[in-house]
Amino acid sequence: MTNDSVRIGLCGLGTVASGVVAIYQGHSSLLSDRAATGIALTHIGARRDNPDCDTSAFTVSRDIFAVATDPQIDVVVELIGGTTVAKTLVETAIKNGKHVVTANKALLAEHGNSLIALAESKGVALRFEAAVAGGIPIIKTLRESLAGNRINSVAGIINGTGNFILTEMASANRTFDDVLAEAQALGYAEADPTFDIDGTDAAHKLIILASIAFGMPLNVTGPFTEGIDGIAPADLTFAAELGYRIKHLGIARRVGEKIDLRVHPTLVPSDKQIANVDGVLNAIMVSADAVGELVLVGPGAGSLPTASAVWGDVVDLCRELGRGQRCPIPALGVLQAALTDIERVSKGDVVSAWYLRLLASDKPGVMAEITRLLGSQGISIESLIQHPPEAGVEHVQIVILTDHAAGSRIEKALGEIEKLQAIGEHVVALRVESFGRELSGGY
Ligand code: HSE
Repeated sequence: MTNDSVRIGLCGLGTVASGVVAIYQGHSSLLSDRAATGIALTHIGARRDNPDCDTSAFTVSRDIFAVATDPQIDVVVELIGGTTVAKTLVETAIKNGKHVVTANKALLAEHGNSLIALAESKGVALRFEAAVAGGIPIIKTLRESLAGNRINSVAGIINGTGNFILTEMASANRTFDDVLAEAQALGYAEADPTFDIDGTDAAHKLIILASIAFGMPLNVTGPFTEGIDGIAPADLTFAAELGYRIKHLGIARRVGEKIDLRVHPTLVPSDKQIANVDGVLNAIMVSADAVGELVLVGPGAGSLPTASAVWGDVVDLCRELGRGQRCPIPALGVLQAALTDIERVSKGDVVSAWYLRLLASDKPGVMAEITRLLGSQGISIESLIQHPPEAGVEHVQIVILTDHAAGSRIEKALGEIEKLQAIGEHVVALRVESFGRELSGGY
């Protein structure tokens, strides 16, 4: 601290950083009042200007490392993204005795263990509320507010871009590419939106949530991950016809002594709360032994919501620093030495109900053959839709909802079904979660 103010340095001047500057410019005295100490954003490191940001009141360095080594700076906010330069930047800041606040989930998922170890050894804080679910305070909730609970599961919609795309495709009949372009223009998507679409971004966030919820080290190899790129408009329509909506979920739950970690598109009954969380909103359901069940809903991406989470961390830190404390809250809720890795449930062992969509020749006996192959793996059918073929089309769409079955059994059955001459193309297989007994007992 210098001259009774905690000095903040900001690295990056992109979408989230411009929100951080805007909140500071609008609420500077409110932030200081809430921190019970002066807060001064003084130094910005950015390789280029952002026309949406007036930086005339700040020192601006083109070399972002000038912020990480600035002796006047107490807290460095890292918003450059990526995992290479950002890693060196955060390490440099920590080695220079700075506390670090970041929104960088990829950095935490890949290098969080070593960064947290370094921060602990230097007695500084690494905070990352903005890394998961944008403006929703889920990190603080898990790490601090639920400290008295054993957490059973954390699950939900944790990528705003993906939810925006699925919502618009389902409700406004828009194309995937059209909606993705809008998500990029609105600042929801990652610089490379591949991570939003293929589930990597949600997997990074789930790794962070699972680490705090279950006291595990951050482990990037954790969840098995499927994206939303395989979802066709027909799947959204059939799901609706069956009374479901398709949501891209991250799920982390205890199963006996193991942890089930996965990210995939999921059919959810339309009357469940999470099925109706739309657009850029995220929703995270937590099931814990003392509190029971919580659902947190809010904007999962975007400049100001994410910047709101950044300032929440900065003000929290400033409160501690203002009282002369040395950051008593461990990054993942417990000190690194207390983290223990937990075995994962393998993909093939995960049990759920399934949605299957097949294109099949409209010939006698085809349906019987499909149900026989499912039956041979012990998979029973809950419901089935077959629409008459359109004029001039040889194949019919068949949609099947199965009872609960392990992934390995579905994979074997589909391997055989896809060999049938009557089957037109790859079978679409999506998991169905009702969020009843198998997750947490009752959303
Ligand atoms: N691209 C991310 C999303 C940004 O859409 O959720 C917030 O992490």
